[in-house]
Amino acid sequence: MKKFVKMFTVAALFASWSFAADYTIKLSHVVSDVTPKGKAALFFAKRVAELTNGKVEVVVFSNAQLHDDDSVMKALKLGNVHIAIPSFSKFTSLVPEMQLFDLPFLFDGPDGVHAVMDGEVGQILKDKVTAKGFVALDYWDAGFKHFSSSKKPILFPEDASGQKFRIMSSKVLEEQTKAVGGNPQVLPFSEVYSALQQGVVDAAENPLSNFATKKFNEVQTSLTLSNHGYLGYLVIMSERFWSKFPNDLKPLVLQAMSEATAYERDAAAEDEAQLLAQMKDYEAKAKDFTIYEMNDEHIAAWKKAMEGVYPKFYKTIGEDLIKKAIEVQK
Ligand code: SIN
Repeated sequence: MKKFVKMFTVAALFASWSFAADYTIKLSHVVSDVTPKGKAALFFAKRVAELTNGKVEVVVFSNAQLHDDDSVMKALKLGNVHIAIPSFSKFTSLVPEMQLFDLPFLFDGPDGVHAVMDGEVGQILKDKVTAKGFVALDYWDAGFKHFSSSKKPILFPEDASGQKFRIMSSKVLEEQTKAVGGNPQVLPFSEVYSALQQGVVDAAENPLSNFATKKFNEVQTSLTLSNHGYLGYLVIMSERFWSKFPNDLKPLVLQAMSEATAYERDAAAEDEAQLLAQMKDYEAKAKDFTIYEMNDEHIAAWKKAMEGVYPKFYKTIGEDLIKKAIEVQK
């Protein structure tokens, strides 16, 4: 009997050793698990477990379960969360230069975005984030943003006049909205659906992935394929956590991250057509939801309306940095 108890105890101990990870990485983000970012966060967790033979476990908290993007920076500093993937606008108070990515009509398609992110400008911005005490990892994609509204379809800039816009916490987005007579209201992503539903705001700007996965189509009557600005992310890690993380495991986590980055960017590109088809399907069935496309005349009018926004940020972002971002896309 004694022998049996001893064997059972050893087996139980072995089982718990083989299942419990030695290290846990808590990863927090605010969107759905089925967005490119959400899927890639889960892919990263899977790859970390595989590459470290289960020594490191990544626990993903999606949908702002743990933190919204504003409070997550503090949590990273304290080491309460270890990885976050905030959109660029959420870095405004920390590294105002990151607002470069919010400038309307700056990017010439996804290739233009990647040329900026993966080149000198992207590195300069990462260095600024590092200088603030974070580990800056990789740039991830969401996609180009589109306007939506429940008040009036937004085609020409004057259509935006008088509308209350939910924006992210970015001064560039504030000026973009004011330039067309809109009223900007900063709200966390987790509050956008209810704010649109209750009429706290009339309008928003989102990439298709966030718009469709959060079902904003249910609380908006129009979606305009405007592609006027870009939404993307910088994956950041808690410096406090990483500095104590075992050196032999670090390269494996970084390998999983670069694989996740490639996966994420592919997912963002691949999902786009399917999400648009999904929204068109919804449009066909819904009584009160219409998708509009901007033509060259609309786009020219928007570009003209946005001309005054850039000079306002020459000092904050740096005129040089903006010029470099334009130059690298030529
Ligand atoms: C996100 O994609 O992480 C959220 C973006 C937003 O706040 O609109």
